[in-house]
Amino acid sequence: SAHATGSTTAADLVVVSNRLPVDRSPEDEQWRPSPGGLVAALEPVLQSTGGAWVGWPGQPDLALDPFSFDGMELVPVELSAEDLELFYEGFSNDTIWPLYHDVISPPAYHRDWWEAYVRVNERYAHAAASVAAENATVWVHDYQLQLVPRMLRELRPDVIIGYFHHIPFPAYGIYSQLPWRTQVLEGLLGADVIGFQRVADAGNFARAVRRRLGFETKAGSIRVPTADGSVRTAIAKAYPISIDASVYDELARRPDVQQRAREIRESLGDPDVVLFGVDRLDYTKGIGHRLKAYGELLADGRLDVERVTLVQVASPSRERVAAYMQLRDEIELTVGRINGDYDTVGHTAIRYLHHSYPREEMVALYLAADVMLVTALRDGMNLVAKEYVASRVDGDGVLVLSEFTGAADELTQAVRVNPHDIEGLKDAITAAIEMPVAERRRRMRALRRRVRDHDVERWSRAFLTDLDEVTR
Ligand code: G6P
Repeated sequence: SAHATGSTTAADLVVVSNRLPVDRSPEDEQWRPSPGGLVAALEPVLQSTGGAWVGWPGQPDLALDPFSFDGMELVPVELSAEDLELFYEGFSNDTIWPLYHDVISPPAYHRDWWEAYVRVNERYAHAAASVAAENATVWVHDYQLQLVPRMLRELRPDVIIGYFHHIPFPAYGIYSQLPWRTQVLEGLLGADVIGFQRVADAGNFARAVRRRLGFETKAGSIRVPTADGSVRTAIAKAYPISIDASVYDELARRPDVQQRAREIRESLGDPDVVLFGVDRLDYTKGIGHRLKAYGELLADGRLDVERVTLVQVASPSRERVAAYMQLRDEIELTVGRINGDYDTVGHTAIRYLHHSYPREEMVALYLAADVMLVTALRDGMNLVAKEYVASRVDGDGVLVLSEFTGAADELTQAVRVNPHDIEGLKDAITAAIEMPVAERRRRMRALRRRVRDHDVERWSRAFLTDLDEVTR
């Protein structure tokens, strides 16, 4: 648990992200792991280097001194209720998020949101500048903080700056909608290394830089003119993020977790087949497409509710953004309809859970799931796919994976789907259910090898090694 330490010592490695790795709950003042894949990916890195993490503590108007937590030095950045509305819910999650996910939902462009984004990015840049030791390495994360690299370079020309983009970077034809497209590129180019999930994202970024700024780019090296008239090199490259696979492996081997997996199946009425989806409740995740395919399979009689159940965990997310409220209504209407039409007294078509769960319970659910459904319409990586694979210590289970996820570039032994193609999705789900055990095991073996060999430690090492090679 947390204890304040008063003053912060200058850190040689500083991570900067919108959220701290822990959120303070307004109800009981307890610290809990914050949502999203970022925490799981970065915590191991910082714990092993003893660095500092700059971020928002998850509650409005909370002014806190730096404190140590779980072997890390946490440096809270205060966000007011207005900052949250304009910077977080507005520009970050109602402009950049939908734009960068190929406008699945229409992005809104508001000048006062942009002004708040600039103002709040400056606050993060100052916090990072004040905690970084001389010649430190500062690693900035994700779309909420795209201006921080340049701002930080101006404040602290001595530090080495990395930026990692966790979400997709769109094609230029989409990116160019952004009224502030030039400023955002300039912000990102303040970093020495700019990391992306997929090769295609890095390519889209380099192309945007050529088209907007006219800088020369060659094989991931970008020639950036500097204020003093010289030129420096920034690297734009793919570093596909991963998970700490051993954590999932170890949890899945625990007898109590395996017992819990059996209990879960029992409490579902012991179906022959458990289908499983788990997502933040976000319009990028293709939950509606998944439910449509599943509902039609029940309607067609190709699946029988007495034999098959879909467990859908939808963890609450960004609940004050209108597009998310609307999505929740749509999904819950659809779930209610399908269950009303197909449930029997003893069996449910969809067990819908609008909660988030601790890791142990997630692993038990992964173990209980015969088929994992990842049907995102666009996703930077999708760590759920990797968590499922890492949890299947029994070597069984089938992963159905959308080709529009970063994970699809790596997890080539999954059953690949285009979630827009409902007929294809239905066929993929039935193929997954009917897949012979030998084929399931062969595919899972290859998937597990990939996730084990390309874990989050390898990801951070690759990124930090490239940063290390930067010369000032
Ligand atoms: C995605 C983003 C993260 C974000 C997470 C949770 O994984 O890439 O930057 O933290 O979603 O979303 P939230 O808005 O709750 O932080």
